[in-house]
Amino acid sequence: MTEQHSEHLPRHVGIIMDGNGRWAAKRGFTRNMGHKRGADVFGKIARHAQKVGVEYLTVYAFSTENWKRPPDEVAGIMDLLRSYLSDADRYTKDNMRVRILGDRAALDDDINRRIADMERRSSGHTGMTLNIALNYGGRDEILRAAHTLARQYLTGDLKSLDSADQEYFAGLLYTAGQPEVDLVIRTSGETRISNFLLWQSAYAEYVFTDVLWPDFSPRHFDAAIDEYARRSRRMGGI
Ligand code: FPP
Repeated sequence: MTEQHSEHLPRHVGIIMDGNGRWAAKRGFTRNMGHKRGADVFGKIARHAQKVGVEYLTVYAFSTENWKRPPDEVAGIMDLLRSYLSDADRYTKDNMRVRILGDRAALDDDINRRIADMERRSSGHTGMTLNIALNYGGRDEILRAAHTLARQYLTGDLKSLDSADQEYFAGLLYTAGQPEVDLVIRTSGETRISNFLLWQSAYAEYVFTDVLWPDFSPRHFDAAIDEYARRSRRMGGI
């Protein structure tokens, strides 16, 4: 890491963890083996991000579109989440605050119980906030916030629409109270946003790498942070 790195450290980093399937196919493994390896890498990178000083990390674990995958693949990813969410000791040790972003209604009851338990147990932690986007879609999130706003207006909880500015609206999103995303990393050579944090990354820098997620290492993470630091962030100014 360079000196520049610590001066221009992104507060909030998003990661689209892509390429598990291709990584597995290249080795003749099942796709679920790719996800298993991907989950291990996720744990390692989260700890590294915290060590580097990132305050918020959001990872895309399962999108609203991922239900279209074969049932055994969906079940495999959900099982990885189950075991991850059950590992409460890890979060106590790491001191991370864990949040799940997304529509929980479609998730199994036991997963919802584990989520509630993990969020409660880790809420007093003072380290990095780790957001796991699960059954998450950016448009869905914005639409829900718009519905909430409409309901608040209809019930009179919100007196005037003029007072509902961008900051107010951001407070209705899953990431309420968190800073906007500074840097989004996507692995595996794909260069799409795929409905990830649409509102929150309006001014984010994007770093795309060809590395497949299971091969992604702390060294690659540092390289993305260095790339971020090199770019000038004008936020629409000059
Ligand atoms: C994208 O690779 C990856 C996913 C849709 C799943 C990501 C999930 C994990 C990394 C595990 C999550 C677990 C925890 C505990 C957070 P892909 O399957 O689309 O790969 P491909 O494009 O090469 O087929």
